[in-house]
Amino acid sequence: MIKVTSEQIAEQYKIMHSVREHFSALGKEPKCYIRTFGCQQNEADSEQLRGMTSEMGYARTDTPEDADLILINTCAVREHAELRALSTTGQFKKLKEKNPELYIGVCGCMVTQEHRMDQVKKSYPYVDFLVGTGMLYKLPEILAKQLDGGKRSFTVDSPEGSLAEGLPIERESKATAWVSVMYGCNNFCSYCVVPYTRGRERSRERSDILAEVKRVIADGAKEITLLGQNVNSYSSDGGDFADLVDEICALDGDFILRFMTSHPKDASRKLIDTMAKNDKCAKQFHLPLQSGSGRILHEMNRKYTPESYLELVKYMREKMPDIALSSDIIVGFPGETDEEFEETLSMLRTVGFDMVYSFIYSPRPLTPAAAMTCQIPQEVKSKRFDRLLEVQNEISLAKNLSLVGKHQRVLVTGESKNSPDMLTGRADSNKLVHIPRDAASEAYIGKFANVKITKAETFALFGELA
Ligand code: SAH
Ligand code: SF4
Ligand code: F3S
Repeated sequence: MIKVTSEQIAEQYKIMHSVREHFSALGKEPKCYIRTFGCQQNEADSEQLRGMTSEMGYARTDTPEDADLILINTCAVREHAELRALSTTGQFKKLKEKNPELYIGVCGCMVTQEHRMDQVKKSYPYVDFLVGTGMLYKLPEILAKQLDGGKRSFTVDSPEGSLAEGLPIERESKATAWVSVMYGCNNFCSYCVVPYTRGRERSRERSDILAEVKRVIADGAKEITLLGQNVNSYSSDGGDFADLVDEICALDGDFILRFMTSHPKDASRKLIDTMAKNDKCAKQFHLPLQSGSGRILHEMNRKYTPESYLELVKYMREKMPDIALSSDIIVGFPGETDEEFEETLSMLRTVGFDMVYSFIYSPRPLTPAAAMTCQIPQEVKSKRFDRLLEVQNEISLAKNLSLVGKHQRVLVTGESKNSPDMLTGRADSNKLVHIPRDAASEAYIGKFANVKITKAETFALFGELA
């Protein structure tokens, strides 16, 4: 791992300020549009991109047509994500034709792969620069060269990855905050591209994380989500992830702590005990199962069995009877038989997840699973996917219905996407809750409210202030 030095960061700040001066000397108020694909880690990265562009004097715009700088932060986890990022990039071609002063940069996981980088280089000549995941801290330097008439540039990290501290962050929300604790992944699940796009595992220093958490609490954050591809691999100064969680929970402030993602092979009893004893820890756990078949899990290189997974769930429920569980499932992994798929359905019924994110297997170049000969036809994958949804939706609905009539603490975050007449928020279980919008409920935006649940659907709860 390469630790970016504080001198290098200071250098980026110097460049950010000279870019700002450059614009103010021209009497210009430049605008930046950022489009983000992918997971929370990418969302968090985009908040850093936003922080840096603000520091350079760019105002935010949500209209690409108004932008002087467009950044597309891409994901590579499934082919669909890449195709969306490429088609979005393609849509900006005409803006560049109209406005040669517009700069377009493609960042993130997709362009950290050599074949995609080459594709963007060749087929998207109006893209001015590419920046890979571990190199985002160099955005100021890269952009300043562009503004100075420099050539197109392509910057990616080495596979071991780097770690930069002290960059500006402009968060999307005041009430909720992402805080990365580690980057990269060493697990090499056989289907997954992430270890290739985000490099080797590396943890931030505990002191840096604690300082950031204190800052967001002081700024009004009520929900803090610690991020990493496998948070249970976190390690700093001899302390592990459970120690970190314990330390954060000991901080003053009225907040709830969540984290994601945990790998079942590494989620420790110690972490579960830590969650159980700390009131500030959300009683919620996202624990990707991927498949209910032991053979498929082995082929996926997941290093746990359905039995050990169930043991872990049993321990969690012993310590925290009301814990809400969610998971990720992949259907149609190469060689998955009907019986093996049935084993997944049966695991869903046995565990009774509150919520499942399911994905159709998508072959990723470079990964071992993509080279397996027994790929499953698309129609079979789609059928299994629909069947899985049907089974899980019934379970999710039953779980949600059991909450009707009960009280839930809800962090109210703002207007509901469903309707301007509703406000929305998350219960401690991380379930989405909608409440009617009025003067009384508006006063709770950014705060915890006690909500009585009056109605339940598969993906959401409805309630009123209690
Ligand atoms: N680090 C996290 C999640 C990474 S990606 C973890 O280990 O759980 C998020 C989810 O995308 C994964 O859990 C998996 O279910 C899904 N996924 C990853 N690669 C995939 C692929 N090639 N095809 C379909 N789904 C995939
Ligand atoms: Fe991908 Fe597995 Fe790492 Fe998660 S743990 S990011 S699924 S390789
Ligand atoms: Fe996608 Fe990269 Fe996240 S591949 S899922 S944005 S780590």
